[in-house]
Amino acid sequence: MTLIDGKAVSTLVKGRVADEIKEKNLSVGLAVILVGENPASKIYVANKKKACEAIGINSYEYILPEDTTEQELLALVETLNNDSKVNGILCQLPLPKHLDEKTVINAISPEKDVDAFHPVNVGKIMIGDYDFLPCTPAGIMEMLKHYNIDVTGKRCVVIGRSNIVGKPMAMLLLHSNGTVTVCHSKTENLADITRNADILVAAVGKAKFVTEDMVKDGAVVIDVGMNRIDGKLCGDVDFESVSKKASFITPVPGGVGPMTIAMLMKNTLTAAKKQNKVE
Ligand code: GUN
Repeated sequence: MTLIDGKAVSTLVKGRVADEIKEKNLSVGLAVILVGENPASKIYVANKKKACEAIGINSYEYILPEDTTEQELLALVETLNNDSKVNGILCQLPLPKHLDEKTVINAISPEKDVDAFHPVNVGKIMIGDYDFLPCTPAGIMEMLKHYNIDVTGKRCVVIGRSNIVGKPMAMLLLHSNGTVTVCHSKTENLADITRNADILVAAVGKAKFVTEDMVKDGAVVIDVGMNRIDGKLCGDVDFESVSKKASFITPVPGGVGPMTIAMLMKNTLTAAKKQNKVE
């Protein structure tokens, strides 16, 4: 079994981004908006800021109170859309209940939508003609590439159908010529399907959901989960038992998580180059 080292691959990706920024003498800016007090979101946003600082991207952080109105949030997005120092805009999800995520995502200029959540970017991904890829699925594809794991012709099973991970993940695997099945909470006989997977991506949001009996011998297992058991970070995969069967597996932490941030940095650089017409 090979442990997929997301931290190491993310360091390589971030290094490439940092080198390109220096080489081309670019000024790159990322605005991150956080509304409210979600503890996990606070950590993610802090990590994004740290990554920006480490690689030479200017980070603009907007920490807004829980009771921010939609009008206030949309006004901020509009200001950032028109600010040429800001190449990328990211509004951390989930938003507090009184704010409509769709409305906010739709307000972000597609050229600055480094999450690739705007319908224009989602549509472009669907037809395979895109500028940005959503960070988590893109990070997973980058890890597969780094470890020379070929997707062509493989049976790929994605558990989870979220707009952020499951759906775009399925599309990227399909673009890479995988034969893709998407499973979800209403799937019947889930284990019968996952047991056929050469590449299994777990994005369910339930700790240790994927157990040994659901995994084929020699499968590549990618764990997108970020769950907590008694405060301890834990993936969607029961690592201890599944790692005995898998040929490759991502740990939590140190797998998909660091890659998500690295791909955000890459998307922000792409946005800056496009906006400044730099190749
Ligand atoms: N919440 C969980 N993952 C993400 C992400 O990739 N981007 C944003 N904006 N919010 C998230």
